[in-house]
Amino acid sequence: MREMMDDVTFRSDTVLSDVHLHTSSKRQLMVRLNAVGQPVFLAQFKLISDETSQASEEEERAFRRNALNRQEERKEEWKVDNSLRDPAFSTSSTKASDASKGIEALLDEDGDLEVVRRPRFSSGEDESLPRDKVCPIILTTGGEPSEEGEPKGSSRDVVKIEHTMATPLEDVGKQVWRGAFLLADYILCKPDPLKDCTVLELGGGTGVVSILAAQAAKTVYCTDVGEDLLDMCERNVALNKHLTESAGGKVKVKELDWLKNDFCTDPDRPHSWSEDEIAELYDLTTVILAADVFYDDDLTDAFFRTLYRLTGNLKNPCAIYLSIEKRLNFTLRHMDVACEAYGRFRRCLDALVTLRDGRVRYAVEPVELSFPQRLVYERVAQLELWKITADKTPERSPPPCTRWK
Ligand SMILES: C[S@@+](CC[C@H](N)C(=O)[O-])C[C@H]1O[C@@H](n2cnc3c(N)ncnc32)[C@H](O)[C@@H]1O
Repeated sequence: MREMMDDVTFRSDTVLSDVHLHTSSKRQLMVRLNAVGQPVFLAQFKLISDETSQASEEEERAFRRNALNRQEERKEEWKVDNSLRDPAFSTSSTKASDASKGIEALLDEDGDLEVVRRPRFSSGEDESLPRDKVCPIILTTGGEPSEEGEPKGSSRDVVKIEHTMATPLEDVGKQVWRGAFLLADYILCKPDPLKDCTVLELGGGTGVVSILAAQAAKTVYCTDVGEDLLDMCERNVALNKHLTESAGGKVKVKELDWLKNDFCTDPDRPHSWSEDEIAELYDLTTVILAADVFYDDDLTDAFFRTLYRLTGNLKNPCAIYLSIEKRLNFTLRHMDVACEAYGRFRRCLDALVTLRDGRVRYAVEPVELSFPQRLVYERVAQLELWKITADKTPERSPPPCTRWK
């Protein structure tokens, strides 16, 4: 078992999402090995209530104000200290004792430096939960998940997500990424554009964004590639029915590969599309979502080709929300740290705006991240959210672009 886990978990191209790195071990439990032998964890992500997130923002501001005041007070103390010290009368020992005065206040009784840590505000985390190392216990092995590992009850403020950790690049969709939480935050804070709509998520991974979107939307098509991932996503949709069904929304998990020109309609494949679903997608979709799917130039190009093709065939205007995390990597080409994937993403956005095909007009704008945080993650400065609007241009009607079917 250990050999199998080491093999799966630690490869040279292994990546681990910060979201899982910082999740309290009490909130995630290893429940099984999936069909390809990867350990599967069940995480419970707590939604911070609106009031709490606003209150914690206020707490954070108060903390900053207090810290500034303390800094000012300390500066004043040092000024008084120094003015009392008359160089004409000071001896080396008084100098030393003066200099150590400020430090002494920071030492504990054994003389160790006591570092006052900044409280974690706006996390919504139960402070009694220690952030110790994840010490997972496997409850079952094999394809079928155990009910034992599932949290009791069906709290409306908890999203339960099965995911794996530390995956190779080709399996990144089995983890939850910060970009998903940023996009989910936005949807939770501004649900109106999704109300009773049909929504399409591209590269949905574990399904967390689609699940939360279905609290406002009528139907969410959560799409991705890979049977194993889509099965995991389907399972997450089932685990969170209490969140979606009570709101009247549903999530349909479907295969949609940006590298292919067609929808998968093979009835023998579990996540294929029916003709009715394809028609519904084209006729009703008004919102498209994608979180953290821009990390490889070829895939970014394929994503934008897919987006172009889909929006060209939608009946209605569409709002597209894309989250991205700028990741800095050292590149031999630049002999420096660079953010190449982000550069490619921005060039694709520019290309959309300048596109004049007589069918769809695209407008692009960054979304200000001033909306509160409803999920627990670090909203780092590298996170961005973009909105694209795709509007039909009725003036001319050029030949229709190949429609997926
Ligand atoms: C970094 S993960 C993000 C997953 C999820 N949106 C999140 O933020 O947690 C990138 C996602 O893009 C999906 N993806 C990669 N290549 C794809 C393709 N050719 N067609 C569709 N999805 C693809 C991956 O399977 C994965 O789910």
